[in-house]
Amino acid sequence: MIMIDTHLHLEMREFDPDREAVVQRAREAGIGLITVGIDLESSARAVELAHEHKIYAAVGVHPHEARRYAADLERALARLEELARAERVVALGEIGLDYYRNYSPREAQLELFRAQLKLAAKLNKPVIVHDRQADDDILAALEGAGVRGVVHSFSSGLEEAEALLGLGFYLGFSGPVTFPKARQRYVIKRVPLARLLLETDAPFLTPLPHRGRRNEPAYLRYIAREVAKLTGLPREKVAEQTTRNAAALFALPPG
Ligand code: NI
Repeated sequence: MIMIDTHLHLEMREFDPDREAVVQRAREAGIGLITVGIDLESSARAVELAHEHKIYAAVGVHPHEARRYAADLERALARLEELARAERVVALGEIGLDYYRNYSPREAQLELFRAQLKLAAKLNKPVIVHDRQADDDILAALEGAGVRGVVHSFSSGLEEAEALLGLGFYLGFSGPVTFPKARQRYVIKRVPLARLLLETDAPFLTPLPHRGRRNEPAYLRYIAREVAKLTGLPREKVAEQTTRNAAALFALPPG
């Protein structure tokens, strides 16, 4: 069964001891990978890893990191554009807004998010969006931005889901769909399979039955299994359609 983990952070230090084996286990499980940067350094590393392991990369600056680049945004964007033009880079991400942790001031987050959306539109690349308690500003920024993309590890409610679907966006689901009380379990039943992507967000958000330990892309199978259970569809159908969705959104070559 072929699947695509559309969002993980393979460059993070949690994978330093056994990165090679993690990629190998994913490969054996038939899982393709899109590794996602969170700042300029990790994005450059994501591009390297994509070449090294014949996987795919996304490059972008996460809202948590916005304050670091606020003083010289032009220069950061120039470097990001250079990275985004590299081979095997299939998206701008992860970009977005996080009003839950607020590690960077909201104005800095917004300015950076809008600038990266503009870059994505210019390069005709899809975006991988992080939204934590920032629904209204996310929607306002995406409306009319002229980009396609996914809101990853979707954690908002039904209203936000419907608004994003209306904008042509995909929704990414990860480990929390396996958690008994997660809102995602309710929302996912109302998302058409044609707009759904699977992801691990590894090393974070480990699904059951491994919750509490480090996550890795091979665990995508637990997420697929739960999505099949929740939607009442055969697991093969979930795997096949979500893979097709990822291939379409990220313009992945066949195979
Ligand atoms: Ni992430």
